[in-house]
Amino acid sequence: MSTPTPEQSTPQAAAELYELGQIPPLGVVPKKMHAMVIRKERHGRPAVAMLPEVVEVPAIGPNEVLVYVMAAGVNYNGVWAALGKPLSPIDVHKQAYHVAGSDASGVVWAVGSGVRSWKVGDEVIVHCNMTCGECHHCNGGNPMLCRSQQIWGYETTHGSFAQFCKVQAQQLLPKPKHLTWAEAGCYMLVHATAWRMLYGHPPHVLKPAMNVLVWGGSGGLGTMAIQICKAAGANAIAVVSSADKGEYCMELGAKAWINRKDFKCWGAMPDPDDADKYAAWSNEAKKFGKAIWAITGGVDVDIVFEHPGEDTFPVSALVVRRGGMVVFCAGTTGYLITFDARYVWMRQKRIQGSHFASKFEADEANHLVMDKRVTAGLSRTFPFKDTAQAHELMADNRHPPGNMAIAVNATAEGCRNLGESVAAQEVR
Ligand SMILES: NC(=O)c1ccc[n+]([C@@H]2O[C@H](COP(=O)([O-])OP(=O)(O)OC[C@H]3O[C@@H](n4cnc5c(N)ncnc54)[C@H](OP(=O)(O)O)[C@@H]3O)[C@@H](O)[C@H]2O)c1
Repeated sequence: MSTPTPEQSTPQAAAELYELGQIPPLGVVPKKMHAMVIRKERHGRPAVAMLPEVVEVPAIGPNEVLVYVMAAGVNYNGVWAALGKPLSPIDVHKQAYHVAGSDASGVVWAVGSGVRSWKVGDEVIVHCNMTCGECHHCNGGNPMLCRSQQIWGYETTHGSFAQFCKVQAQQLLPKPKHLTWAEAGCYMLVHATAWRMLYGHPPHVLKPAMNVLVWGGSGGLGTMAIQICKAAGANAIAVVSSADKGEYCMELGAKAWINRKDFKCWGAMPDPDDADKYAAWSNEAKKFGKAIWAITGGVDVDIVFEHPGEDTFPVSALVVRRGGMVVFCAGTTGYLITFDARYVWMRQKRIQGSHFASKFEADEANHLVMDKRVTAGLSRTFPFKDTAQAHELMADNRHPPGNMAIAVNATAEGCRNLGESVAAQEVR
């Protein structure tokens, strides 16, 4: 790609503030930017909490990079940040306000004095794992265990719902050339999380012909998990709440889908001493297990890919095979999880927590996208002004299957101004 030159950019001196898509000269950083801002006093529904404001462009440190955001990805992080639940991100990073957004595609606009691998003009995507880079976990160990580990755009401010975002240099990855800005900006958080869940916890790693139960198959995580399973030659069994979503999962490469609405074994596990309630739950859970057997030919699944939490965990722990793994990265429906421990110890099942991914894992996962084995699963692109609306849909589980993006500076004019090869990319 030909990187934009100052000549190709808007021929004007640095203004205090640029409008969306009105590109400053390459590398020239304005004082202010448009951002979707969450403040502590307005935590609540995204429509109330996430409002447009003009704020200062963040200053960068020696190992940091300022990225001119072309597109940002919509994740549940933004919903949690708006709600301020289970906690306010502002109480975590203690800044005056919070700019959410943990996925981005864009152009490197400024680099700190210690940055060697990236230069102004590089087209990049951002992974959301921030670490100290100095401890033993970051150097030859498992960076997800670094004591300073944080999720950018959730535990830190200056996320991607703004014209510029501030990231550690190690968070950058090359933008897959065949993707539009919106596609490139929408998938990394869920893709790398799914990758670590399926490959990051040996010996329970994905292998050909394994059976994997994928909750929320058409959601952000599920969309990527199904494609990763397909690429590995494994069988993804998607759980969804409608036939439309089931068909979407089949198009992605699922082996089969199950409608969770056909069963009534959701929520906290009933007390086994309450014989009637327990029998009703157990019968429904076994019915669900039989629906899985009908797909697998009578064997239990090797891995359960979990994230709904409270509503589904008792069943996940039941249906995974002896010695298999329930791997989970969230508790969207609640995090006071219950399960019958007897099945877990007697059948030596593994319950494994998982959280985002290291840079190494994000890079591995990105290779599948670069190699066109996995798509970004872009469902819909919203204009910047509708950032809160996209999060409203997600909060109510009314969002379309796949991953949503926000066009930040990737307006049609913005793409044109960034040079010919970029302008040729469709902004969907
Ligand atoms: N720790 C991490 O690193 C990490 C990373 C990414 C995401 N997460 C978390 O993981 C969760 C899911 O993220 P996502 O991006 O995949 O969200 P998403 O796009 O909203 O997908 C979640 C899916 O869950 C399903 N679902 C909703 N309610 C359910 C219920 N009661 N029982 C079973 N399934 C239900 C929905 O599908 P159906 O209605 O069709 O079943 C939905 O498509 C969020 O809480 C997010 O914060 C954590």
